[in-house]
Amino acid sequence: MTALTPITFAATDIEKIAAQEGRVAIFLAPDGPLDAGARRVNKLTKGAVQRLLAGQKFAKSKPGDVATLTFPVGMVAEAVDIVHLPRRTDALAARKAGAGLAKLRGQSDLLLLAANMKYVAEVCFGLAMRDYGFDDHKTDANERKGAVVTMCKKPDEAEAAAAPLMAIAEGAFMTRDLTNAPANVLTTTAFADQLSAMQDLGLKVEVLDEDQLVKLGMRTLLCVGQGSESPSKVVVMEWNGGAKDEAPLALVGKGVVFDTGGISLKPGAGMEDMTMDMGGAGVVAGVMRSLALRAAKANVVGLVGLVENMPSGNAVRPGDVVTSMKGDTVEVINTDAEGRLVLCDVMWYAQERFKPAAMIDLATLTGAIVVGLGHENAGVFSNDDALCNAFLKAAQAEGEGAWRMPMGRGYDTLLKSRIADMKNIGGRAAGSVTAAQFLKRFVKEETPWIHLDIAGVASVKSETTLAPAGATGWGVAALNRLVRERFEKG
Ligand code: BES
Ligand code: ZN
Ligand code: ZN
Repeated sequence: MTALTPITFAATDIEKIAAQEGRVAIFLAPDGPLDAGARRVNKLTKGAVQRLLAGQKFAKSKPGDVATLTFPVGMVAEAVDIVHLPRRTDALAARKAGAGLAKLRGQSDLLLLAANMKYVAEVCFGLAMRDYGFDDHKTDANERKGAVVTMCKKPDEAEAAAAPLMAIAEGAFMTRDLTNAPANVLTTTAFADQLSAMQDLGLKVEVLDEDQLVKLGMRTLLCVGQGSESPSKVVVMEWNGGAKDEAPLALVGKGVVFDTGGISLKPGAGMEDMTMDMGGAGVVAGVMRSLALRAAKANVVGLVGLVENMPSGNAVRPGDVVTSMKGDTVEVINTDAEGRLVLCDVMWYAQERFKPAAMIDLATLTGAIVVGLGHENAGVFSNDDALCNAFLKAAQAEGEGAWRMPMGRGYDTLLKSRIADMKNIGGRAAGSVTAAQFLKRFVKEETPWIHLDIAGVASVKSETTLAPAGATGWGVAALNRLVRERFEKG
């Protein structure tokens, strides 16, 4: 797994600043006096900080922006990064500032002079999140990265405040690594093995193999994987940090390790992107990791359906009818609408086995959601306003775009089949909504439920505030917050 940048916290030592190698970062509030670190840098550079503070460029910059003095006279450092951060800012601006510093530093050492800045932990979180690269398959990787040290008034307090945020970053890194991994490396078996290894963190992990899935009757899930050499699996991860008899939150993830479309084969151009079609399962894994690392006081169960969608002599065909675990029959019109076939069985199993207090599924489910919402927002579908609003609030607080979409009976009728209980696709119209309607048929009346279509946000072609291009880890922070705010005691 890609390692998080270690950040150490130390008491401010003014004497060390002049001799610091690499980069030094200071934080300026336009409305406040220079803190001790900034004063020292200002003195060493003969007033350069004051001049920058007085200039137009700083006045026009926004909270979280960074300006750089390169090769400052009077210091050993190659650069001083000057961060615009008002004393009363918000967490997201502080994260953006940290991310900006991570981008600027490259491989260099970095000393943060945070004095008594309130948002020091958030700055460190942004830095850790942006200091990510997927180098597993670069033969020239492994260059040693410089150290990051944060000097502040109360280093122990800052470190304690950063710890739960670093647990989120650890989870998001796992999500990103899984989502970035090529399909010849991340097979269904390799995926299950990585999840099993999380037992070391105190999670209970169980891997269901094909024989067990047949016995359970998960025929819609199995039909997706039947054309592949890789065996289909369902992995169940339990974190029992809450009260003994409290019903858990269930998180369910689509884990299609590669989606060729099957017999309804996708076009060749861009098919390589379908290595990320296990992104939903990746988020579930990442959230479970974060919850374990910060020892969350909640019961949460994560379930992922791991399959590969391949064409072959024994692949499922368009027109085949399969019976779900629930018992409803599905006419497979398009084998490329496979995600819902995987999810419906895992969702049903989750409810039968765990009687969850709520259920949230995540899936790179439809191209239509990318057409509708682009890469800024995930599509949010729900049968429960209170749960849905709590999630939207959590996502907003974490800076993760999420937008609620409609559902309704009118869309549901589009799934009508002549020969079975339902078809697996509607038509071209409202493709993301009909996908959600399909899933809803496998949600019990009493289960508050959210479906997150993350096809547009799980992996992107250009960098975002907290991630380089590629897998983003979208959702780990929002779901972690939702657990904290709605499912955790005390
Ligand atoms: N995995 C795809 C959806 C997808 C598209 C994810 C783009 C990420 C980026 C899904 O399995 C799929 O192929 N959906 C079809 C559904 C259609 C056949 C009804 C689609 O969106 O075209
Ligand atoms: Zn597909
Ligand atoms: Zn898919």
